[in-house]
Amino acid sequence: MQNSILTICYIIASVTFILGLKMLSHPATARRGNLIAAGGMLLAVLGTIFLYHDEAGNALHNYGWIFGGILIGAVVGVLAAKKVKMTAMPEMVSLFNGMGGACAMLISIVEFNHLMHAVPEKWTIYPPLSALGKSGAPFHIPIGELLIIVLGLIIGTISFTGSIIAWGKLNGRIKDFSFRGQHIFNILLLLIIVGLSVWLVCSSAEPVRFLLTVIFYSILLLSVVYGIFFVLPIGGADMPVVISLLNSFTGVAAACGGFLYNNKAMLTGGILVGAAGTLLTILMCKAMNRSLLNVLIGSFGGSAQSGTAATQGAYKEISISDAAVVMNYANKVFIVPGYGLAVAQAQHACHELEKILTDKGVDVKYAIHPVAGRMPGHMNVLLAEADVPYEQLLEMEQANEEFSTTDVVLVLGANDVVNPAAKTDPSSPIYGMPILDVQLAKTVIVNKRSMKPGYAGIENDLFFQPKTSMLFGDAKKVLQELIAEIKML
Ligand code: TAP
Repeated sequence: MQNSILTICYIIASVTFILGLKMLSHPATARRGNLIAAGGMLLAVLGTIFLYHDEAGNALHNYGWIFGGILIGAVVGVLAAKKVKMTAMPEMVSLFNGMGGACAMLISIVEFNHLMHAVPEKWTIYPPLSALGKSGAPFHIPIGELLIIVLGLIIGTISFTGSIIAWGKLNGRIKDFSFRGQHIFNILLLLIIVGLSVWLVCSSAEPVRFLLTVIFYSILLLSVVYGIFFVLPIGGADMPVVISLLNSFTGVAAACGGFLYNNKAMLTGGILVGAAGTLLTILMCKAMNRSLLNVLIGSFGGSAQSGTAATQGAYKEISISDAAVVMNYANKVFIVPGYGLAVAQAQHACHELEKILTDKGVDVKYAIHPVAGRMPGHMNVLLAEADVPYEQLLEMEQANEEFSTTDVVLVLGANDVVNPAAKTDPSSPIYGMPILDVQLAKTVIVNKRSMKPGYAGIENDLFFQPKTSMLFGDAKKVLQELIAEIKML
């Protein structure tokens, strides 16, 4: 009876995951979707703790350990989520994802040891065939179970160590690192892991505990190394793609756990995370017009420099009052937010400027690049925080159609996403990435603090074009001054 109620809990949890995921795709419903999915997860966890009974009818025990773990995890999670700055969000996502990978890895280790305990004692170190001859009773480890354990181990471990490296790279603690032939080294490492796994699974028919244990922990060790070397050489700007990929790995590893425990909620959740992570990875690659392989071996966004830097020439500046006049008397203004807007926490000032201009009869819209900022949807989240109506945010394709009929584009702390080199300079590391064609507008005003490059570390030709004027300063301060000026006009 209790197991039937538990099955119902799992079905409810699965449905809420799917609903939650669907609602996450729109800013207006995302918060509710998150809560609904979290509610489903809570139901599944509590149901498992209190309702689960094994085949012998035993309930779970170890409540002290279980609730101790939940308490520590909940306190750390809530504090981290409350304290994290918006700009550090990708790091936190990476760290949390790593924890998911570590869970899958630990599950595999625990379940492997369970299997090993089932191996007859006399087969501990000697070849089983000799033992078989004496005992006569054949013994087999369930091959499917072992396969899933090994899959969960490899994928979970790679996701764990890879995510920790990604976390370190995003917060600057770990620098990009690569050596000659690293990709070949990685491929060889992966081949050895696969080879050992095949050996392990094949050896399960006549299991020798010592041999299997050595192979298993070798796979673990090599997966740790692979996770590190897989992420280390990847360029900084490609980190979000890698995190999304690792996220899908964690989902698949969790789904392996679901198979192992015949747990439908874990299975559904894992498959959903795996599928969503894969789709997001593909979409991000598309947004940058690059293949996943190019992302993984391209080392984009590291220390690469475009060759155009020295040939840029002069740029011109605009004063706050002139910028205020130009925008005040424009018919149509586009605001292009970027990472700098998030750094300056200028989203509220930005919304205020937009409202004042709108009150003065200017048509104001936002152009959102899919990878502006440092995480997927960064600009959408930032502007939603300031209550900017979602209808005013135009996606890249729509905005690009409108720039030629736009009087002023105000670029706020964006750089790479408006860099024309992506279209014009085949030697540029961002060549091929779709960009916002702001140079099609009549006037472009770029706000940033200096002439320093953006995330990809390359110069931006836009800043030196005749129709572009630089408005230097911190985005929040500049916006506040612009608002004050426009109010006086
Ligand atoms: P970036 O190219 O990084 O440029 C941001 C600019 O903001 C910088 O040039 C900086 O110039 C300026 N800035 C910084 N603080 C500022 C402040 N307080 N006030 C005004 N300006 C400030 O940003 P982007 O155009 O949004 O492009 C995003 C880049 O990050 C892309 O290369 C993308 O591939 C990569 N990336 C994206 C993601 C995702 S998924 N969104 C995640 C990681 C990386 P100054 O220093 O001169 O002020």
